[in-house]
Formats: sequence, structure tokens, C-alpha cells
Amino acid sequence: MTERPRLPLPAGFGWGTATASYQIEGAVSEGGRGPSIWDTFSHTPDRTRNGDTGDVACDHYHRLDEDLDLLAEIGAPYYRFAPSWPRLQPTGSGVLNPEGVQFYSRMIDGLHARDIEPWITLYHWDLPQQLEDAGGWPARATAEAFAKYAGLVYDAFGDRVRHWTTLNEPWCSAFLGYGQGVHAPGRQDHQDAVAAGHHLLLGHGLALRELRSRASDAELGITLNLFPAEPESDSPEDVDCARRIDGLMNRFFLDPVFRGTYPDDVVADLERAGISIPVQDGDLELISAPLDLLGVNYYTRFVVRARSPEEVERRGGRPSPWPGGRDIQFVAGGLPTTEMRWEVYPEGLSNTLHRIADDYTSIPIWITESGSAFGDVLLADGTVDDQARIDYLDSHIRAALEAREAGVDLRGYFVWSLLDNFEWAFGYEKRFGIYYVDYETQERTPKASAIWLRETLADDALPERTSA
Ligand code: FCB
Repeated sequence: MTERPRLPLPAGFGWGTATASYQIEGAVSEGGRGPSIWDTFSHTPDRTRNGDTGDVACDHYHRLDEDLDLLAEIGAPYYRFAPSWPRLQPTGSGVLNPEGVQFYSRMIDGLHARDIEPWITLYHWDLPQQLEDAGGWPARATAEAFAKYAGLVYDAFGDRVRHWTTLNEPWCSAFLGYGQGVHAPGRQDHQDAVAAGHHLLLGHGLALRELRSRASDAELGITLNLFPAEPESDSPEDVDCARRIDGLMNRFFLDPVFRGTYPDDVVADLERAGISIPVQDGDLELISAPLDLLGVNYYTRFVVRARSPEEVERRGGRPSPWPGGRDIQFVAGGLPTTEMRWEVYPEGLSNTLHRIADDYTSIPIWITESGSAFGDVLLADGTVDDQARIDYLDSHIRAALEAREAGVDLRGYFVWSLLDNFEWAFGYEKRFGIYYVDYETQERTPKASAIWLRETLADDALPERTSA
């Protein structure tokens, strides 16, 4: 049992919740929206759990006002959302679709009317299918298309939206989408995955230039998912596995953005695997242009060990997100886990924040996602008693505020997610929301965590908590 005392919240701290278009909107063929790689992927047999798709999702497109009211009910000052690229620009080029612009305009105005600051993520994985057909992120042209799109979105909403992040978790887009193939577009080629990673970063840099040329007081950044990689033992082999995973997961993105260079050891590891990063002159200058903020998504850690050559042999060539990483095994580290089988490790969040501040940058950091999936049950009395999620949030918020107290310039913390939603390849089976969604009726029910968050914010303090 641990006793956690009441903890007053810092004044002016940026609390919020987060969502993403394909996970909640539905209405995939309405309002002039074009197809995205996630439509294609989820409609391909055996790609998602139970063949689930985002066709209807939380029907947010038709329930916008109701969902904005939920946000108002929570009382957090920010809402981070990702407009759908194919709703705004159906084929990935040309002018914006007026109906799409109208929908997000209504959202932005509705947020302001409720005193909530909108925060836009420009890319949360729903690439227009036409751009994938032309090569997708492994093709340099996709970065250029993204930058043009970013400029148009800024032209449409820049007068009403101050905070912008270019990409959400480029690691997932690149390595899960093009390497392991468990995310759209489902390709399995490590050279493509690395090229996609570079072009996503280039897209970030080019988009940043577009936005900077327009924006005087916008706050611009990128969101990275950063997870500590720890060795199972202190054997040199295990320690080296942790270095390599840290390289591909964290430093592959942090180093170019904040140091203008890919890490030497990662470049050497990739070369050994016959893979190169398609950098052209000037790319790294664009990628490392100054930012106003860094968004961090944090969920868990990785614990790794080295496989023996026999184990590698036995395992064969099963698809993995890690280029050159067949000899690295991911193991359970012994901590309690969520429904995703992700270890609950709040110290990893404070360590990550310290690492960024110590090794990379002193710009403001925002936790743009933090949350957990559990097997929530809607009881007959209409309640969902998700104490495990409250524990998760409580412990992670405390860890984040500890780092802030120790000097890290942390400005905000957004809960993933407002609603249960389409959890990518896991379909609707994993519930991350603080509102429960009944997918038959589309009824939303506040879980205990939503009520807890509302009361915490109203009270300006984390309540005292005893947890197992
Ligand atoms: C993050 C994604 C988000 C959601 C959470 C659980 O990787 O950004 O869309 O799937 O994980």
C-alpha cells in the first residue's frame, strides 16, 4: 500500500484531453472525405482485431456538440485533436474541402465558446490513400505534400488556434506502418521504414517552415513517443540491446530535431543491417529548426535482452518494427501491466522528462498523451469504476509534477483519451477513454476517472490516495 498525500496543482498548468480523427470520427464517406491508409488497412482481412474499422467509430462527426459538452464538463483548459487529412484534403493535394473546413471550424468555435483552447496535431496517421499509392512516407514527395497541406490548414484555422504539433509519434508511422506492418499501410520493409522515418521528420521540418512563414505568435512543436529502454541484466550484450532500442525508438527522432544529426551509433547499426537514411543536403537544417515546445507521449518502458544465435535461428524472420534487431528480445520486466500488457512505470516518465531537459533542450515540454487501457465494465447502475485508471493517472501526474518541481519546464499534461475509441490494430477491444462508449447506442458514460479528473481540476489538487 502506498499513501499519496493531497497535492496542490501548479497554477496555470495546461490540463487537457486528447483524441485523433480516425479513432473517433466515423462518417468516413461523408462530407467529401477521401479514403486514408487506415480505411484501406482496416478493410483488409486480418489486419485488425475482429476486422474492426473506423467507419463509425464513436460517431463523433455527428455528435460534435455532445462531445464538446463532455469536454466542458471535465473543465480542462485544452483539447488536443487531430483533424483528418483526407477530410480536409481528400486526395492529399489541391485546395481544402469546404465541408471539412466547416466541420473543424465548428469544432474550434465550439471549443472557444466553452473556454477551451484547441490544440491541433496535423498528422495522426491517416495519410490520404492517394499519397500512399504514389509511394507513401518512404517517398520524399509525401513530405512536401504534407508541408503544403500544413500551410493550408494554418490558413484556415491559424487565426483561432495557437498550439500546433506537426506529427504524432513518427516512430509508429514509420516502424509499425512500414517495418512491422501492424499499422497502416501494413508494409514490411526495414529500408522503407527508415526512409519513412526520415521523410516524416523532413515533413515536420518543411511544415514548420510553412507555419513559421505565416504565424507570428503560434506555438509550434512535434509530438514524439519516448519510452525508456532498459536491459534485463547488466551483461554487455543486454546493455547493448538497450542502447540499440533506445537509438531507434528515442534518439532516431530526438537527435535530428534537437542536434541536427542522426546518432552515429544508430547510423552504424543500420549500415550493418544494410540500411541507409536517405538524407539530402539541407534536410537536417530544416528538421532541427527551433521549436517552441516538445510534445511527449508516454505510456511504458521496454525491457530487453540479447537472444542467442540459436534463438534467432528458431524465431526465423518474423516481422519486427526494429531494423537489424532480430537478436533483441522484449521481456516482461516484472511490473504490473495494463490491458495492453504495457508495464506501468511512472518513474520512466520523470526520467524521460529529465533526460530531455539534461541532454536535449530547455524548451517547454507538454505531455501530449498519457493514459491506459483496462477492461472497463459498465455496471447495471450506469457506473464504470475504473480505479486502476485513476491510479495510473494519479501516479503519472505525480511523477510528471515531480520532474517539474525539480526544474524541468513542463507546461501541461493531456489524458489519452476523452472517449473509448478505435485503438488501431486492436480495434474496439481496448478502452482508453475516461468516458465509456457503448458502441451499440453510442451512449457516453463518465467513468470514475472522468469524475475524478473533473473534481481534481475543480479542487486544484490531486486528492489524497491510497493504492495497492
Ligand atoms: C498512442 C497513439 C494514440 C493511441 C495511444 C494508446 O501511440 O498516439 O493514437 O493509440 O497510443
